Amino acid sequence: RNLFFIIIIFCGGLFSFSQNYKAKVDSIMSLMTLQEKIGQTVMYGGSWDQTGPIVGADNGKYIREGNMGAMLNAMSVKGTLDLQKVAIEETRLGIPLLFGYDVIHGHRTIFPINLGLSASWDLKMIEESSRIAAEEASAEGIHWTFAPMVDISREPRWGRISEGAGEDVFLANKIAKAYVKGFQGDDLSKPNTILACAKHYVAYGAAQAGRDYHTVNMGEGELRNVYLPPFKAAVDAGVETFMSAFNELNGVPTSGNKFTLRDILRDEWNFEGFVVSDYTSINELIPHGFAKDSIDAARIGMNAGVDMDMMGHLYRKFLKNLVEEGKVSEAYINDACRRILLAKYKLGLFDDPYRYINEERENTTKYKPEFLAKAREIAAASSVLLQNNNEALPLSTNTKKIAFIGPLVKDEYDIIGNWAAKGDRQGKALSVFEGISEYLNSDQILYAKGCDILKDDESGFGEAISISKQADAIVLVMGEGHHMSGEAASRTNLKIPGIQPKLIKKIREANPNKKIILVLMNGRPLNLSDEVNLVDAILEIWFPGTMGGAATADLLFGEVNPSGKLTVTFPRNVGQVPIYYNMKNTGRPIPDNNPKEDYKSNYIDVPNSPLFVFGHGLSYTTFKYSDFKLSSQNLYTNGTIQASVTVTNTGNYDGHEIVQLYIHDKVGSVTRPVKELKGFEKIFLKQGESKIVTFEISVEDLKFYNSEMKFGVEPGEFEIAIAPSSDFRFKHSFNLLD
Ligand code: BGC
Repeated sequence: RNLFFIIIIFCGGLFSFSQNYKAKVDSIMSLMTLQEKIGQTVMYGGSWDQTGPIVGADNGKYIREGNMGAMLNAMSVKGTLDLQKVAIEETRLGIPLLFGYDVIHGHRTIFPINLGLSASWDLKMIEESSRIAAEEASAEGIHWTFAPMVDISREPRWGRISEGAGEDVFLANKIAKAYVKGFQGDDLSKPNTILACAKHYVAYGAAQAGRDYHTVNMGEGELRNVYLPPFKAAVDAGVETFMSAFNELNGVPTSGNKFTLRDILRDEWNFEGFVVSDYTSINELIPHGFAKDSIDAARIGMNAGVDMDMMGHLYRKFLKNLVEEGKVSEAYINDACRRILLAKYKLGLFDDPYRYINEERENTTKYKPEFLAKAREIAAASSVLLQNNNEALPLSTNTKKIAFIGPLVKDEYDIIGNWAAKGDRQGKALSVFEGISEYLNSDQILYAKGCDILKDDESGFGEAISISKQADAIVLVMGEGHHMSGEAASRTNLKIPGIQPKLIKKIREANPNKKIILVLMNGRPLNLSDEVNLVDAILEIWFPGTMGGAATADLLFGEVNPSGKLTVTFPRNVGQVPIYYNMKNTGRPIPDNNPKEDYKSNYIDVPNSPLFVFGHGLSYTTFKYSDFKLSSQNLYTNGTIQASVTVTNTGNYDGHEIVQLYIHDKVGSVTRPVKELKGFEKIFLKQGESKIVTFEISVEDLKFYNSEMKFGVEPGEFEIAIAPSSDFRFKHSFNLLD
């Protein structure tokens, strides 16, 4: 028999389970050899999924030797039971394995991709989505998700912009917390909660030219003011793990970066969880030109503060010698092992290593009707009505004939998006076609695929144009394939791919006066400069998930009123990138009264403004903002002031509105962005109804890192506005006084 049971009995006599698990970890560690401690820092992959290059590993052997502490891509009750049994019954100490997986926007029931979820600005819904994901994942033996991705990104070329919460730091901080709360719940020892992981630490979203894994050069001010805060927010929310990233940051790869991993994460923020590398990211210190060989890479990784080596074979092979040679301090190994064991304790795995392994739960938890109902609601709330000329939407269910055209009309494969975990790509997701079939009789529906997403075969154009002519309204469902965003899916061209734009043009030419609606599935901001002139309405549904087709139909026919707003700027063309709402003013801003003035910071071919701004999103109703009030012109450093506005639903539908608070610090010891989101509230207003929305502002909201990297406020004038999007000019201000 192994020592596990002896330890449990020993520990059980001293403490009840919930008490003092740090001491329990110490008592286990006192029995562990150096190599066994190193074993806890090693992770390999199972065969249920592949999320990176193939790395051969003899899992059974490594587990038996005590050379593996965690696995990724291993799941299901049967699968995890078999593996866990080896760890418990066939190793000297019987320390349970930790099973991790990328549960990113749902596990079985898939929610919209994360960029879409963020467009709901609905923290409760985001938390619910990750709670449901944790329910489903934990029922399949998973203890730990590699989510949330909290990388800010202002880079639509970067495919992974789809995995984040967009470009804004204030919103991303709140969203990071919502995800962590949803995944981890209120008690990690419950078998339906899982460890969350804030990734990819850090600044991965600023990859040069939007090319994945690429270099990042960034001043410490920008790092601290924009890219670090969502990670800090995750720590504040109690996130248990972090993942270091692939990119280098100012010459030092982030998986070998002592400054970010030890000085900031551990020493400044007091993070008590553990850090896992990204997939072979410690090995990649070699091609980065930062480590001379594998041994060197292992040394740098552990010394920098990466506690667990994902897929790399480095810690397992080299750390022991490195400690013996004095190149890695044993204290670092002890610390890493302790942090990992603590996580296992918190999950209750030392109490019962099989607690996530329950066949009945596995069989009854996935795709529960209430999960699907939530997914439908959330998908609708995440969609953004970008354009709606002449009230083209909603469509009437009495329309005689509607033509549905495009490669994504009947799709149930791409619709769940990238990183869709164990979401079934066949037979489960509702296509848009199935969704609209709930609203229309079959004789009202005309359908033609028209073309593929990427192939340039135009042979389907004829049929598409012919049915468009027979219809009273036309709905195009087009966009990217799911594999065109996510990891290793950067694009230099932000147009709707393939010959789809050509088909849109031809359909407009054939139907000059007909209502054309473009429903878009995509994982990034696209360049829609041509399409805005060709179609009447554009509904951005991202990749909306399992119930996306039904949710889209709910929106198209006005059963649900669109309420999502963009969390990322849509440029006019790729040459404007990076473009984001909270830029700096420059020394030569374009004057309001003379936009064409020479020698100003502008382009000669397109305006500076984007096509769709951050915070933009239409509704079937209209909202009026009036009666802006500030409780005082002066804010004192220990006080607060209130800003309020009356919002009235002036249109013909009930609806939600996302009310946004922006502030501009006019003068700083380092320059401040032209506007910054500092608050938001999603309200519901019936037709004709008004509400007063009030925001409280304190100095905490005005702090930033100055050139000495001190976090504080500077007295002076601050402009303020409450607005429906980031597209407004300030009219009010207050003074911050000492
Ligand atoms: C990705 C991570 C992911 C990991 C494990 C990597 O390639 O960058 O986001 O969590 O693989 O699948």
